[in-house]
Amino acid sequence: MIEVIVTARNNQAEDICSFELARADGAPLPAFTAGAHIDVHLPGGLIRQYSLCNPPWETHSYLIGVLKDPASRGGSQAMHEQIQVGQRLSISEPRNLFPLRENAQHSLLFAGGIGITPILCMAERLHQLGAEFELHYCARSADRAAFVERLQAAPFAERVQLHFDDGPAAQRLDAAALLANPDPGTHLYVCGPGGFMEHVLDTAKTQDWDDQRAHREYFTAAPVSHDNDGSFAVQINSSGQIIQVPADQSVAAALEASGIEIQLSCEQGICGTCLTRVLAGEPEHRDLFLTEAEQALNDQFTPCCSRAKSPLLVLDL
Ligand code: FES
Repeated sequence: MIEVIVTARNNQAEDICSFELARADGAPLPAFTAGAHIDVHLPGGLIRQYSLCNPPWETHSYLIGVLKDPASRGGSQAMHEQIQVGQRLSISEPRNLFPLRENAQHSLLFAGGIGITPILCMAERLHQLGAEFELHYCARSADRAAFVERLQAAPFAERVQLHFDDGPAAQRLDAAALLANPDPGTHLYVCGPGGFMEHVLDTAKTQDWDDQRAHREYFTAAPVSHDNDGSFAVQINSSGQIIQVPADQSVAAALEASGIEIQLSCEQGICGTCLTRVLAGEPEHRDLFLTEAEQALNDQFTPCCSRAKSPLLVLDL
C-alpha cells in the first residue's frame, strides 16, 4: 500500500475529473507500464480501480481520470464529491492486466468515453517507441470527451481521430472499415463502455480477427440476471471441507461466511483479483477478465461473480 496526496484535481470533461497523486513522503512512485491501473482505497472502505493515464515513464505522480457514473456503486461519486487537493489516500502498486505488445508492427487503439485513460498511456508509450499506431476516440459529444486538449497538443496528434455521436456522419466511427484488415502483425486494444466494446470486438470477430490480438479492458460489468441462479457446493481441496453456495449468495460470500477469505476488489468479474484455480467441476463463468479461450479451460474462475454448472466445484484453496 502506498500513501499518496492529491496534488491536482481538474475537470477534464462533463462528469470527468482527473486527479494527480504524488507520494506523501515525496519519494518516487513505482514505475508502471502502459495499460496499468491502481486500486484506490476510498474513505468508507471502497476500493476502486483506475487506469494510469500519464506517460508511463513518469514516477513523480500518477494521473487518473474518473467518470462520475450515474449508476455508481459509490466509488466514482466519492471521488467526485469527497476527494479534493491535499487529501491523503492509500493506493496499491500499479498492476497491468491490459499490457501493450510493444513489438507489434501496428497497433489500433479504440477508446470509448472514459476508456481513453489506459489508451492515452498506450499512445504515449507507442510514440516513445517510434511504433506505428492509430487511436480512435469515441464520445457522445465533444464536451464529454476528456483529455482532448492533451491529445491535440501531443506529438502524435496526427495519429488521433475523434468520433462524436452527435457530430457529422462522416466522422463517426466506422469499425467495419477500420478493422477490415486483420493483419497478423496488428494488435487491437479496446476500452470503454460495454456497448462500445461489444460493437468493436464483435466487428473484429466477424472480420476474423484472432482473439489473441484483440485486447480489452472493461470498466463495469453489464447487469446480469440472477433469476435462474441455483445452489451448488464448493469443496476446499486442502481440507476437504464442503461449503454450500445458496442461490442468492456469491461463492466468495459463501466462503467468507465459512471463515475462508478471498481477496476481492471490483466484485464484478473485471479485475481478476479473486481468480481461483478450479481442480474439478465446471464453472459458469460470468467474468469479463478471462478470455473465452481461458474460460473454456475451466481451470480457474472468479468467485466474486461466477457460479457453477456442475453440482460441485473443487477449489485449489
Ligand atoms: Fe474483481 Fe473478482 S474481485 S474479478
